[in-house]
Amino acid sequence: MLPVLRTVAAVRSALADWRGVGARIALVPTMGALHEGHAALVRQGKAAADCVVVSIFVNPTQFGPGEDFAAYPRQEAADLARLQAAGAHLVYAPTVNEIYPPGFATTVHVGGLTEPLCGAVRPGHFDGVATVVTKLLLQVMPDIALFGEKDYQQLQVIRRSARDLDIGVGILGVATVREADGLALSSRNAYLTASERAIAPLLYRVLCQSRDRLRSGGDTAAILSEGRATLLSAGFSRIDYLDLRDADTLAPLVGLDRPGRLLAAATLGRARLIDNIAALPT
Ligand code: PAJ
Repeated sequence: MLPVLRTVAAVRSALADWRGVGARIALVPTMGALHEGHAALVRQGKAAADCVVVSIFVNPTQFGPGEDFAAYPRQEAADLARLQAAGAHLVYAPTVNEIYPPGFATTVHVGGLTEPLCGAVRPGHFDGVATVVTKLLLQVMPDIALFGEKDYQQLQVIRRSARDLDIGVGILGVATVREADGLALSSRNAYLTASERAIAPLLYRVLCQSRDRLRSGGDTAAILSEGRATLLSAGFSRIDYLDLRDADTLAPLVGLDRPGRLLAAATLGRARLIDNIAALPT
């Protein structure tokens, strides 16, 4: 049976046993509602470490007012079955009170990287992410922690905070797992109706078409504005961004003179979908 621990003290004592036999420990932080993307993080964790800890915590501080904190899918039994099948060793599923006890007053804020893209439309979101991830890293103190490239800005923010705060945990990025039609797996895909689900893969197709056109030397601004128009005319109701950015700093990029990242966020029905791909110099 997969052990499910609810407190920092219980996790630390379980991990002391693993450390005692020299085990390398990997942490995979999640908010539950697990799918094959999360399972891929667990499998890569197993390839790089002896003991894989998965945390499940729907973190209230990263949801803004009016966002889907209350509606976010919670399905612990199904999650545990999936984690058992993927070969995780330990689950850490704390309560809100365990992570944010009364009087909690500290926030981790990463400057710069958190301002554009999702940071511009979800104020405070990355403070919530950086704070909870910092706490999870310090609570578990793994050798490595794994995060998906699907949330590329989040991955860069976590790399930065772990480095800046000398947390001493290796941060590993894992390639995005997709459906056969290209749609990135996401817990929020459950919000799509059948007809929206048929439109949703266009987000990835537009990213790929934009990358191909950039590589053949097209005008960046024109390519991106045509991509936005394509999404809107297909039924996406709002485009937060479709943008080319420096792959490391996320600063605006006009041409492919260095490694770039094409990133998009757009609303389809009740779901806000995000995706991104590499855009490398030719
Ligand atoms: P959550 O959305 O549950 O995602 C947990 C991890 O799974 C993240 O690192 C995310 O990038 C990764 N992931 C999600 N979909 C993926 C896909 N299709 N392919 C590969 N990896 C994928 O991201 C969060 O939770 C939270 O913000 C968290 C980091 C846990 C902090 O609360």
